[in-house]
Amino acid sequence: MRATLVGMKVLGIESSCDETAAAVVEDGFRLYSNVVASSMDLHMQYGGVVPEIAARSHIECINSVVEQALTEASCTWDDIDAIAVTYGAGLGGSLVVGVLTARTLAITHDKPLYACNHVEGHVYANFLTSVKKLRAHSASEERSESGEGGLKSSNREISPEKGRAPSQSTQKDPLEDYVLPAGQPQFPLLALIVSGGHSQLVLFRDHFDYTLLGQTTDDAIGEAFDKVAKIIGLPYPGGPSVGQKAKDGDPFKYRLPKAKMPGKYDFSFSGVKTAVLRLCQQLIGEDHTFPSKNIASRLSEAQKADIAASFQQVAIETVVGKAVQAYEEFQPTSVVIAGGVAASPELRRQLAERLPCPIEYTDPKLCTDNGAMIATLGCFHMKHGTTPADPYTLDIKPNLSM
Ligand code: KG4
Ligand code: ZN
Repeated sequence: MRATLVGMKVLGIESSCDETAAAVVEDGFRLYSNVVASSMDLHMQYGGVVPEIAARSHIECINSVVEQALTEASCTWDDIDAIAVTYGAGLGGSLVVGVLTARTLAITHDKPLYACNHVEGHVYANFLTSVKKLRAHSASEERSESGEGGLKSSNREISPEKGRAPSQSTQKDPLEDYVLPAGQPQFPLLALIVSGGHSQLVLFRDHFDYTLLGQTTDDAIGEAFDKVAKIIGLPYPGGPSVGQKAKDGDPFKYRLPKAKMPGKYDFSFSGVKTAVLRLCQQLIGEDHTFPSKNIASRLSEAQKADIAASFQQVAIETVVGKAVQAYEEFQPTSVVIAGGVAASPELRRQLAERLPCPIEYTDPKLCTDNGAMIATLGCFHMKHGTTPADPYTLDIKPNLSM
């Protein structure tokens, strides 16, 4: 880290898929606001994200999302020290809306602009340890404090003039129910990244110094959850709906295959997804040519529950098994999980049970796509001395890798 920056607030903007999100984070650990507008409802009828619908939805709501993130943080543009934006990986039409918005705001308000990798951002959600209360006027009113990771608490507070009007004192604080880790993760850090687009194990030696240990060679785990949900007629997104249905099922009812990979820490989820399809066709007495879209209506609720539970069991066991193996080989100081599937209670349960070290999880709302993770990563770019992006030329990178 180059600089000791204290009291630095970064506005993070995220629009890589179907969530339009903006947030304000201070010093890489204190959350001031986190606003997420999702177009998920519009995609539900298609069983997955439709890129054009997502892009249009971003255009419609990005300005109000940014505005709300500033309002909820009780910040004006004068309080913001930098803007961070996701420039990849993601859907081109979605990324471009966030990047152009951030570029325009950086130029208009003369702020440094940090280009952020979406997947790195997911990992950085784990560095948030404290929330700023909506009407807080002193540090003592904060629910928790970092005290870890070398980042100092700010002495800047929200002034009453800039804060919410007294009439809002009965309103619910939007950050009220966030449950965050007590301390920041320490390096070396093992990150299990499990989202709709990625399944990776990454070893971080320090900030921005990491090695990719392994990744999926085909579908991401979240993608497999979404596809299995579609086959058995559960709503999108598949992670939460399969998890919910699995509660009524037997996780050992059906034996689904675990892929054997040449790379020790690589994953593959397309085989198990196809195995689910074949199992369903067999259960309803049809052959492999039977269309997947006609299967769900012929399965009983009990069969759906057993399929959901058996699939979830094998998918989660696969990523947990490799994370435990990597822990044993590299002996990291901390382990974190990141990405949408990290919200899964079953993943959290299995990992805590099998890891031979304590693990803290961040709030599930910070696992799915959000602006706070990008604002946090932006704070660390700033502290690290990363050269800001040129707001006149920053381009999107839909295929950006770790
Ligand atoms: O990180 P994310 O919001 O977007 C990407 O970067 O891909 O992850 C979305 C994925 C979806 O596949 C969704 O089914 C899954 O995360 N997901 C979950 C849960 N919430 C979202 N999977 C399991 N349990 C959840 N509670
Ligand atoms: Zn994501």
